[in-house]
Amino acid sequence: MTFADYPATRFRRLRRTPALRDLVQEHRLSAADLIWPVFIREGHNTEEPIASMPGVSRLTLDRLLVRATEAHEAGVQVICLFPYTDQSLRTEDCAEAWSPENLTNRAIRMLKKELPSLAVMTDIALDPYNANGHDGFVVDGVIVNDETVEALVKMALAQAEAGADILGPSDMMDGRIGAMRAALEENGHQDVTIMSYSAKYASCFYGPFRDAVGASGRLVGDKKTYQMNPGNSDEALRLVARDLAEGADMVMVKPGMPYLDICTRVKRELQVPTFAYQVSGEYAMLKGAAQNGWIDGEKSMLESLLCFKRAGCDGILTYFAVDVAKYLKG
Ligand code: PBG
Repeated sequence: MTFADYPATRFRRLRRTPALRDLVQEHRLSAADLIWPVFIREGHNTEEPIASMPGVSRLTLDRLLVRATEAHEAGVQVICLFPYTDQSLRTEDCAEAWSPENLTNRAIRMLKKELPSLAVMTDIALDPYNANGHDGFVVDGVIVNDETVEALVKMALAQAEAGADILGPSDMMDGRIGAMRAALEENGHQDVTIMSYSAKYASCFYGPFRDAVGASGRLVGDKKTYQMNPGNSDEALRLVARDLAEGADMVMVKPGMPYLDICTRVKRELQVPTFAYQVSGEYAMLKGAAQNGWIDGEKSMLESLLCFKRAGCDGILTYFAVDVAKYLKG
């Protein structure tokens, strides 16, 4: 490419007015790009604030319905459920994970009945149900892969049965997408979509989330034998390609802001529906700085999310989803 030199080219001409700037803007954020992650809990009429995520609360199902209705009216089209499981239901066999009556499955049925046009996404991993906080079964200190995959398949089927639109396996076991896809096909759920957490890094930015789901104190060791090493990039491409070959419809990179290069590579090299998760620690950093008056809360929220679009993402999971949708609606 060749460009004319100054003064034939003056970049500031197109930045002179809002109309001109808008006209040449390459990427935009819209409410349709957003997936809203929500924490749910047992009980009635309660919204329980999460200290490390200012503005985010665990919702009982009656409050979930109220908040989801509001969000949907503001333009949010996809909600993603994360359960805070009662301590008594966190066991080594994780059986609550695939109970048709667990909190998540009851929430899915309620939302699909009351708000059928709101798409419901789930999380598939054992950590909210596991006595030791890991995403897989732990046998003699090792997170076992294949036994975990069998359990995750049962979890996926229970969620599909409850009416989930998008399954979100976040566990990083090998072979889980293929196993889930085969089970879905065999059981009449051929239209249920999978958004795989394909490139999920072993990140410290999940800290506030682990508070939110009550896993913080429980986790024994770390998740480095299944989540990715933050120093790797090529591996992310191989994982994404592998999950697509096994039957994923959409793929995700997680965390978001520190991994925009991965988002860009996935979109450029594979041209597939690509999503990023702006995780709890990213939310907490932006919110914390804004609450201290160190950055502008609204502007930093919008800029952080627009940058995901520029990096190549088709959409973003973000705790800001409702605030953004309301802002964009004006
Ligand atoms: C659990 C799961 C995690 C997140 C989503 N699903 C945490 C983890 O892997 O430890 C993190 C989300 C966030 O930090 O906002 N499998």
